[in-house]
Amino acid sequence: MGKDLERVLLTEAQIQIRLAELAASIDQDYAERDPLLVGVLKGAVVVMADLTRHLHLPVEVDWMAVSSYGSGTKSSGVVRILKDLDRDITGRDVLVVEDIIDSGLTLSWLLTNLRSRGAATVEVCTLLRKPTAAKVDVDVRYVGFDIENEFVVGYGLDYAERFRNLRDVGTLASHVYTS
Ligand code: IMP
Ligand code: MG
Repeated sequence: MGKDLERVLLTEAQIQIRLAELAASIDQDYAERDPLLVGVLKGAVVVMADLTRHLHLPVEVDWMAVSSYGSGTKSSGVVRILKDLDRDITGRDVLVVEDIIDSGLTLSWLLTNLRSRGAATVEVCTLLRKPTAAKVDVDVRYVGFDIENEFVVGYGLDYAERFRNLRDVGTLASHVYTS
């Protein structure tokens, strides 16, 4: 996959250090509570795996799959539930775990959806956030890294379903888009 990347933006080590910091904050903020971490498939799988293992708190994990994108690089704004939560979240302290917030359209829709089910609290933890996310009115409690407005892959993030298994986060070489 090396020749398909333009440059490494965040190394595996940088990501792990930051996730440990976020986990320490979450441990503190959710002490004495019983948080339910909700991951958004498929991108958040890798973040969830590492974030939860940096936590000392006991947590439950559930998953949703929504589609907001095709295989391209722009948000359509249309959100569809492909897989819903397994459990009722009434009264729960829900922490949504995301890989990246770009337009924020997916997330804003998801937060409204989860709050309408009677969750006690709904907060968000994302590994990456793009500047465009500032335009939508969503309050993101935990952010790993604010990055520039460019398309990135790796560490769970895909381009046309590829590159999710890269350990680093990087930008794509232009020949990948055009071939
Ligand atoms: P939003 O609705 O525009 O915030 O898009 C959120 C979703 O789009 C993320 O969960 C990703 O699946 C995808 N996405 C946005 N930007 C990128 C990127 O740079 N690389 C890979 N996927 C991205
Ligand atoms: Mg994606």
